[in-house]
Amino acid sequence: MNDQALINRTADFVREKFLHEGSGHDWEHIRRVWQVARALARDTPQANPLVTELGALLHDVADWKFHDGDEEAGPRASRAWLESQQTEEGVIEAVERIIREISFKGLGVATPMSSVEGELVQDADRLDAIGAIGVARAFAYGGYKGRPLHDPTVPPVVHESFESYKKNTAPTVNHFYEKLLHLRERLHTPAARKVAEERHAFMEQFLTQFLREWEGQDVNAE
Ligand code: ADP
Ligand code: NI
Repeated sequence: MNDQALINRTADFVREKFLHEGSGHDWEHIRRVWQVARALARDTPQANPLVTELGALLHDVADWKFHDGDEEAGPRASRAWLESQQTEEGVIEAVERIIREISFKGLGVATPMSSVEGELVQDADRLDAIGAIGVARAFAYGGYKGRPLHDPTVPPVVHESFESYKKNTAPTVNHFYEKLLHLRERLHTPAARKVAEERHAFMEQFLTQFLREWEGQDVNAE
């Protein structure tokens, strides 16, 4: 099978699987990550476009967040799909590695990517977690998990291990301080960093207004 046919079949497979997902990890998230990763790959000649696109399409295929914390569910599901398509072993391994490494694991936990393709997919995934879409996805996820929007009595926590991050059940606003406001500094490519500027500023503006409204400060303002 040629590369484009494999990409198209993988997109169809993932679209089918994620069409009715309601936690912010839906097909449209995957589609955006795929598009952005593909755009970043065009500016990165050393990146293998097939590995980048397959990594983007399959990066959330069996996320640990929805598989009892099982970190190997994603790499396993990706391998099973690609083997069923007679994909060459080198490509399967490169994609598995991206999925294994991509996830945020707590503010105190380093998550370096071991390939340039992985860096592009991680940048694309992280851009989709910030800005207006990032705000929407955070509250969609919080709602899905039954979390409160905000609780000023619960301070944000710096998770120093993946285990502690996984157990986190904090209100959704805390997630901004525990993860989303830090993603801008953790991007790899200059192109993604540039896009992140406006998205980051928008998130900060959102939080300022949210906290003002929370206390009714805008109501009493002169
Ligand atoms: P990652 O691989 O970095 O976990 P994903 O693509 O799986 O990224 O998506 C994570 C999405 O889920 C983000 O939009 C993020 O804001 C949201 N999310 C994850 N954990 C929480 C949480 N505790 N509260 C609110 N949103 C969350
Ligand atoms: Ni994702």
